[in-house]
Amino acid sequence: MNDMRRSLFQNILWTLPAEVAHNIRMALLGVVGLIPSGKWWLRLCHAPQSKNLEREVFGIHFRNPVGLAAGFDPNGDRLEELAATGFGFVEIGSVVPRPQPGTPRPRIKRLRSSNSLIDNSGYPCRGLEYILNNLRQRGSYARELVIGCNIGHLTASHREDSVKEYLRVFRNMYQYVDFFVINISCNTASKRFILRNREEIQQLIEPLFEFRRGQLDYRPILLKISPDLTKAEVDTIIDLLIETPLDGIEAVAGSIEMARKSPGAVTGALLTERAIEIVRYIAQRTDHNYPIIGSGGMMKPEDIRHMMEAGASLVALNTGIRENGFRLLKKATEAIATIDNKED
Ligand SMILES: Cc1cc2nc3c(=O)[nH]c(=O)nc-3n(C[C@H](O)[C@H](O)[C@H](O)COP(=O)(O)O)c2cc1C
Repeated sequence: MNDMRRSLFQNILWTLPAEVAHNIRMALLGVVGLIPSGKWWLRLCHAPQSKNLEREVFGIHFRNPVGLAAGFDPNGDRLEELAATGFGFVEIGSVVPRPQPGTPRPRIKRLRSSNSLIDNSGYPCRGLEYILNNLRQRGSYARELVIGCNIGHLTASHREDSVKEYLRVFRNMYQYVDFFVINISCNTASKRFILRNREEIQQLIEPLFEFRRGQLDYRPILLKISPDLTKAEVDTIIDLLIETPLDGIEAVAGSIEMARKSPGAVTGALLTERAIEIVRYIAQRTDHNYPIIGSGGMMKPEDIRHMMEAGASLVALNTGIRENGFRLLKKATEAIATIDNKED
């Protein structure tokens, strides 16, 4: 079950630069989606079969707990095909109000020996209008998919403007997505937007709570945190979770510290241990009372099982799928089913 040998196709992709490989995968996914029965075939090949995978988390029904993290399909271009593939949810974004190109290429470096990446993509995004258009036009598969919207900091704008810009994205996306993830650790070559203290974070999220109070439908709001936070900083986040209307935490983003002198953030296997450790700590301190999306270094089924055992309610994958392919989805859900069977 823990066998994650790569397929021939995956081995070919692995010889290519990381971003080129990802773009080829996404383009092929688009082509398969256009072929008659293409989506049916995607479902047949990849969709999880294990029983008892359904979850109710922060009031939302998930068909299985394995989803895609931000940055995999940032603009929501392949929601229909990813839904057919069988993911439990897809987090689009980071969404920013205006288009931004990200860092010049090459900007994603492979650390082959450690099965990791250094992501210095700088959150390329086609902007709010483009993404809204994709959401409005989503097809029948994507309409059934749980979609999270990750909101990030627009690199070109000033730090002081972030509060109104996050709110703008939040308001516009509110009726089109199921939950929100507020990215408070955006890292680009030219600028870092990393919020660590309580006042700054509260300033950013209070207007979102305020807007939500006036709506008929409830959309959960989560904070996405960096693995580089100190224990005291993680405690601050936990206090916020307990004392404000926040609904959960996504832990973790890429690590800037692990990238040392290279610009960017480490993702993939180098993150696994730290990500699980942080999730375990948050779950223990909150008596497992708040939902946590576990992310970071989920490369093989046993990582995902350990993450769920540590207290994650859901897991969000990125590098694991880029480097191992969609077959990881089914294997991950099989590993989760073994926990559930043990508990029965
Ligand atoms: C190429 C790439 C782009 C990413 N873009 C974003 C992004 O736009 N917003 C965000 O919050 N996280 C982004 N991430 C971080 C992932 O969502 C995830 O938190 C991180 O990669 C750790 O998970 P992983 O080890 O499974 O990749 C990106 C990661 C990669 C590899």
